[in-house]
Amino acid sequence: MSIERLSTGVEGFDKLIQGGIPRGFFVAVVGEPGTGKTIFSIHFIAEGIRVGDKNIYVTTEESKESIIRQAAMFGFDFERAIREGKLVIIDALMGYRDDPWSLIELDVDHLVNKIIEAKKYLGYGRARLVIDSMSAFWLDKPAMARRYSYYVKRVLYRWDFTALLTSQYAVTTSLGFGFGIEHVADGIIRFRKGIVRGELRRYVIIEKMRQTEHSLRMHEIEIINGQGMRVKAPTAYRKEDTVLPTSVAARMLAAELRKLLEIPETGHDEET
Ligand SMILES: Nc1ncnc2c1ncn2[C@@H]1O[C@H](COP(=O)(O)OP(=O)(O)OP(=O)(O)O)[C@@H](O)[C@H]1O
Ligand SMILES: [Mg+2]
Repeated sequence: MSIERLSTGVEGFDKLIQGGIPRGFFVAVVGEPGTGKTIFSIHFIAEGIRVGDKNIYVTTEESKESIIRQAAMFGFDFERAIREGKLVIIDALMGYRDDPWSLIELDVDHLVNKIIEAKKYLGYGRARLVIDSMSAFWLDKPAMARRYSYYVKRVLYRWDFTALLTSQYAVTTSLGFGFGIEHVADGIIRFRKGIVRGELRRYVIIEKMRQTEHSLRMHEIEIINGQGMRVKAPTAYRKEDTVLPTSVAARMLAAELRKLLEIPETGHDEET
């Protein structure tokens, strides 16, 4: 039985996952700020435009214009794709009242309805969906993450989407932010960063991809102006390249636990 797979459009990435993401999968794209989640997602959509899929990009932390500009830097004309009815960008940041594709309220029901509306507008057929990011929808209630993720997947499953759901990660733990998507997701692509000899390096590792014999190696990636993201050779990853000093890590963990358990900060000021 052969599985239909969608190319990610990122040079060197598809071969790590037997040619692409299985059609219909919901894949979590996780990582700290600036690791490449949005740029990876932009490639996925650009590839969809190229091959004639229907494409929807939900953006919560950047405006629609910002996504269009970022895509243009790598030679992808998202504005034209929008004009030609191949792409809808749902802007959940700006909340423009006069844009029918703006999401005025940041809640999961509105989100799902808007996505279905966009799919109907784009028409029948294989579709790609990016929700960048999912974490925006449970910022003030991290305990809901898993339920929301499950709901989104269950409702949207019928609409022939292959989806990337991005999520920022707490640096030290997956408390609160990641767990929601990760159990529900058919795949997990994790981006990482580290400073090596004074230089910022970025990496990607596939932590999970159902029905796929995927690479188990950490690969270095690069983002090149005018070209976009590219996967380089596998890397000998050393833990100390990406790990925070333990004192910082411990304090972040404590802060997250307090938030989750809703314990107020203590009265005295901690040293910063
Ligand atoms: N034109 C460009 N040329 C080279 N590198 C670029 C270019 N545009 C962006 N970058 C790099 O990509 C980074 C942003 O990547 P991206 O937006 O995909 O991160 P992210 O994981 O989505 O972060 P966040 O969680 O904050 O949204 C920038 O910090 C910069 O290092
Ligand atoms: Mg981003």
